[in-house]
Amino acid sequence: MLTVDNLKNINGKVVIVRVDFNVPLKDGKIRDDNRVRAALPTIQKLVSEGAKVVLLSHLGKIKHKEAPEVVEAQKAKNNLAVVAPRLSELLGKEVAFVGATRGEEFEAAVAKLNAGDVLLVQNTRYEKGEEKNDPELAKAWAKVADAYVMDAFGSAHRAHASTYGIPEILKAEGKQVACGYLVEKEIANLTRCVNVADKDRPYVAILGGLKVSDKIKVIDSLLKKCDKILIGGAMAYTFKKALGQSTGNSPVELDQLDYALKCLKEANGRIVLPVDSVCTNGFEGWTEKIVSEEVPEGFEGMDIGPKTAELFADEIAKAKLIFWNGPMGVFEQKDFANGTIAICKAVAKLNDCFSVCGGGDSAAAIKEFGYKDSFSHVSTGGGASLEMIENDGHLPGVDILK
Ligand code: 3PG
Repeated sequence: MLTVDNLKNINGKVVIVRVDFNVPLKDGKIRDDNRVRAALPTIQKLVSEGAKVVLLSHLGKIKHKEAPEVVEAQKAKNNLAVVAPRLSELLGKEVAFVGATRGEEFEAAVAKLNAGDVLLVQNTRYEKGEEKNDPELAKAWAKVADAYVMDAFGSAHRAHASTYGIPEILKAEGKQVACGYLVEKEIANLTRCVNVADKDRPYVAILGGLKVSDKIKVIDSLLKKCDKILIGGAMAYTFKKALGQSTGNSPVELDQLDYALKCLKEANGRIVLPVDSVCTNGFEGWTEKIVSEEVPEGFEGMDIGPKTAELFADEIAKAKLIFWNGPMGVFEQKDFANGTIAICKAVAKLNDCFSVCGGGDSAAAIKEFGYKDSFSHVSTGGGASLEMIENDGHLPGVDILK
């Protein structure tokens, strides 16, 4: 696979760069610009080589099957124009923005670029065909490009027109396609959690979050690779229920009990479940908070308990490689953040371990609690990092570059 360093003769040439500017917004403002910052090295490199840089990204979700006024409202909410001024500040140079995603206005904006200029294009999902990898749409984009760079790691698990269709066409035309620095770094670090070297054992995975059903493929894959899997978050209660323990009103997926039992059998002691929980008498507006080994009737598990935090920390202390996805509790409320913070603290104590946090909520949590620098790698992709583990290192948006 070519990287952005291998691209030849791009001075004055149009290079489409797929970035992941799917940033969290609040009241129309960027709440966290991490993903914009993460794309800077690739953009800067291309600018320094004199490329005409055309940036494509999605932002949020747009459901084109909804009524026209709903679609319009979703478009207004997910207008990518908000990113252009921030990118311009971070790059220290002007960034042009074009509101049209194809056609005359779009092509004119590309034609106006000089060597080293940067153009940000409106949200790719304004186009109905983006998520369907519509060949006409991919053609409309590919026709303005001399080369393509994939740097949207967070979207590399999507075979969409901008992540898959464009490089497919350009490759067939003999044009250069490459990965950017961010994708290169993400792949190198996550590959370590996929193809596990002997020196990286024990390999400990930490899984949390709401549903077992969302994590079936990743659990199956980790069972083949890991020495221990620590399970917290609401999904732990499905496992505990499967073992016949009381889970009160905790969210349990009754249709996953057999699956949970199958995993426990296959794991043969390698799955570590919580031994206590912080429980409340209701999710919102609760009035009683207790710590209990099992969740009593009328209560709901909100976080792993202190004994579990210690048990998990002991396992983490032995690890040489860690992959973490999913918080241990309802960390957004400070009463239930201790379990997730305990994982951060345990990782922060390690000095001979490669620790990876797989994006999404857990990445937001470690950032919020100030532990970002305690991890060897914090992925910019939630779904993408999970799919990379699930699919033994394969992602459509990366495989197409090869
Ligand atoms: C993400 O936020 O995980 C990526 O930007 C992908 O977004 P998507 O799940 O809407 O495709």
